[in-house]
Amino acid sequence: MLTKEENDRLTGVGPGTPGGAFLRRYWIPAALSEELPAGGAPIPVRLLGEDLVLFRDETGKPGLLGIHCSHRGADLSYGRIEDGGLRCLYHGWLYDRAGRCLEQPGEPAMRWSHSGGRNSIDSPTSDAQPVLPSSFRERIRHPAYPCIEQAGIIFAYMGPGEPPLFPSYEFLRAPDRHVFATKYLSVCNYVQGNEGNFDPQHLSFLHRIFTSREDFRQAYHAGDVCPTIDPVETNFGLHLYAVRKVRGDEHFVKVRSFIMPSAGAVASRGEAGYNVNWHVPIDDEHHWRYSITFSRTSPIDAETVRRERSGMAENYRLQRNKANRYLQDREEMRTETFIGMGRNFAVHDTFATEGEGPIYDRTVEHLGYTDRGIIVMRKLMLQAIKNVESGIEPLGVAREPAHNHYPDLVAQDDVLSRDVPWRGHWKRQEEREVAGARR
Ligand code: FES
Ligand SMILES: [Fe+2]
Repeated sequence: MLTKEENDRLTGVGPGTPGGAFLRRYWIPAALSEELPAGGAPIPVRLLGEDLVLFRDETGKPGLLGIHCSHRGADLSYGRIEDGGLRCLYHGWLYDRAGRCLEQPGEPAMRWSHSGGRNSIDSPTSDAQPVLPSSFRERIRHPAYPCIEQAGIIFAYMGPGEPPLFPSYEFLRAPDRHVFATKYLSVCNYVQGNEGNFDPQHLSFLHRIFTSREDFRQAYHAGDVCPTIDPVETNFGLHLYAVRKVRGDEHFVKVRSFIMPSAGAVASRGEAGYNVNWHVPIDDEHHWRYSITFSRTSPIDAETVRRERSGMAENYRLQRNKANRYLQDREEMRTETFIGMGRNFAVHDTFATEGEGPIYDRTVEHLGYTDRGIIVMRKLMLQAIKNVESGIEPLGVAREPAHNHYPDLVAQDDVLSRDVPWRGHWKRQEEREVAGARR
């Protein structure tokens, strides 16, 4: 349970809020690369409560600007891509990716200043003096945020000063073909989406599929609905272990990672790799769930993934949504799935977290043992918000290459002998593999 003040600090994302200031210290996804094809139109983007325009200049590099022209506010997402930037359709002002105003075609080369007035006025009168050259253009600083494109995503830094180093997470350093990214709209505050990633007990209910008996994970999740939950802090956020009893002298260990400020790496099926759910605030009551699949060992066939997901979403909106009650099917609940909403986990999670309301009121909740991960995660976030207020860099923001190093960012499932300690067990596996390769 949080106080109202804590809940407001945690969930606010807009400019000028403590939570918004915290989020602005990180590189965050602004759009998928596929939304902005080379030579294509600019797109409006709402991010952290700000309305922005994302475009590629003629060199193909992405830029993120305030959507309203600095002259008189026209919508720049309708603008023309030309002459080294984005040109406003109203009076032709031209902006580059850094927000510099390159041209003001209607402004005369010289400016006029009234001898008695404080400000220059554009129409010369008898007492006006010409001032050369015009500095009007140079004085315009249009809101602009730096962008980096990686893993099929355009990331932006919306904070003050120089951006921090782009995080060197393994899934963001991987070759393009080893990563597949898409996103889904969630009509609720981003913290709700992210909390769902750190509550592994819900796998025993929300995601239960009766007919997936061949999947050992499903069997283990159903077989022990009361896992041991063990959160451990890291240099990027948190590890969360969920340990379930299985047969005899073994246990099923899931480790997942919370990545500040709002992403979760969770084990994926089959491949060596994981999925990342990155919950990116649009505003206080909406967020994008970026779903990033990472395979360490083999390229991902993007077409196959797209085919598998076709029919699931349109324009990044899930077909099953609150307006159609997620197409819940009571017959399916009897025979196939616990919740009757199909087999896709993203739908299940969206149903659960949207159901908490647009901004969940955490003053009335009743947290239990299974919420241990969420309790520690909130503590980390509230501490980071406080740090930003005190001028201290929040957890997971690196400005030195030596600190931009995250070898412990993992998410995987393992069946281990009960005498093997679960904390850091994957390190011991790696050591065994390295030792095996040396022999
Ligand atoms: S409003 Fe954009 S140039 Fe005038
Ligand atoms: Fe889930």
